[in-house]
Amino acid sequence: MTGTEVLRTEHREIKIMLKVCNISASRIQNGDLAELDTIAKAVDFFKDFIDGCHHKKEEDILFPLLIKKGTPEQNASVSALLDDHMQGRELTKLINKNLGELQNSVGDTALLASSITAYTDLLEKHIAKEDHTLFNITESIINPDEQQHLYEAFELLEEEEIGAGVHEKFHHMIHELAHKYKLKG
Ligand SMILES: [Fe+2]
Ligand SMILES: [Fe+2]
Repeated sequence: MTGTEVLRTEHREIKIMLKVCNISASRIQNGDLAELDTIAKAVDFFKDFIDGCHHKKEEDILFPLLIKKGTPEQNASVSALLDDHMQGRELTKLINKNLGELQNSVGDTALLASSITAYTDLLEKHIAKEDHTLFNITESIINPDEQQHLYEAFELLEEEEIGAGVHEKFHHMIHELAHKYKLKG
């Protein structure tokens, strides 16, 4: 697998989780509090996998490489993508806060549902920008050795940041949720 293939594969997993969250958000909007469990799992995934692992691979390894090689246009698109990551972090905190309040019976289902869909909208658009533009550019400007180097750097980061077995745990969780919500996982 090449470096960009690793990130594209992770996007496919993230997109399944976003679909689960959209279904869950509309059920929460209709008052189904049994769905809070799914959102608690999703928040762990957003924090530990999306932000702590996937976005870190992009921010610490891929984006600096592109900035080093890139044109001002590419640098501008990297900076827009970094803004998306920051907004995602803020929305994750908001979802967590709204979730905590509902778990303590003082929250608002509409507020939680809208913070979830704000996050899923942001991430769906963000992933489309990376899959259809940024990664295509990356694949056209870096050579096989650099792809191999990216892959190895991603592996190392994963080992150091989230540790052995954690990605597998999330992988398993996504497939269970895909099955529960009748999505193709
Ligand atoms: Fe990203
Ligand atoms: Fe990404």
